[in-house]
Amino acid sequence: MAFSFLRSKQKDVAGQVDFNHLPRHIAIILDGNGRWAKKRGLPRTAGHSAGSENFRTIATYCRDIGIDYLTVYAFSTENWKRPKDEVETIMGLLKKYLLEAIDTMERDNVRLRFMGDLSALPEELRALTDQCNAISERLDGCLCSICINYGGRAEIVHAAQNFAKDCLVGTVKPEDLTEDGFENYLYSAGIPSPDLLIRPGGEQRLSNFLLWQCAYSEFYYTDVLWPDFSKEELLRAISAYQHRDRRFGGVKK
Ligand code: IPE
Ligand code: IPE
Ligand code: MG
Repeated sequence: MAFSFLRSKQKDVAGQVDFNHLPRHIAIILDGNGRWAKKRGLPRTAGHSAGSENFRTIATYCRDIGIDYLTVYAFSTENWKRPKDEVETIMGLLKKYLLEAIDTMERDNVRLRFMGDLSALPEELRALTDQCNAISERLDGCLCSICINYGGRAEIVHAAQNFAKDCLVGTVKPEDLTEDGFENYLYSAGIPSPDLLIRPGGEQRLSNFLLWQCAYSEFYYTDVLWPDFSKEELLRAISAYQHRDRRFGGVKK
């Protein structure tokens, strides 16, 4: 693969990546914004702003190198516990991001999808996510799922409720439910499970992200904080992934 889009710093790391066997789906927990800001004597909200810019960079880069699916954790069902001004800033950044995305996603050919309970979002934001969904239907590029007001447990409960409703109207029977069938009730319906899950920011936990979908994902943790998580870091994570031996419970051939 030609490295024309890579700066020289990236070429060293890129040399360690097999671009013909990339993970099809990468999931990232966007963590460490607050500490990034604190290190610079800035308010936490400045970290969210930097993190949001970095998301744009990494999402476009994933498209450039040919990642089919990118799923990011942007705001959890637990993040409402944060101070009001921090939550408001995050929602403000989301609005800014959505408005820019509406203008650029067609040119960039990046599809956007939103996962989580969006009913808790301000009406104005929901209208913008609807617009992004409508534009995405016309595109075929990298599918970027943004998890907002997302919780893995809430997603499973929501799926179970919808399945139960279908049972009540008689379209399905409880005994016919399979794992594949259940996946159709999740927010991630139609998207393959993540191959690689990356958590920057130094914590080694899931924090309620993709509990169902990560059953066999490869985990990659780094102390690098999300706003500093560069293209080189992404390539490093992919290279580490390519050295893993995925057995899915079987034995090596
Ligand atoms: C992640 O960064 C962004 C959100 C959870 C919304 P944090 O805000 O959690 O940053 P740290 O973990 O406090 O550094
Ligand atoms: C996970 O990060 C949620 C997002 C990045 C959106 P948190 O910062 O909320 O997770 P904890 O509190 O460290 O587990
Ligand atoms: Mg955090």
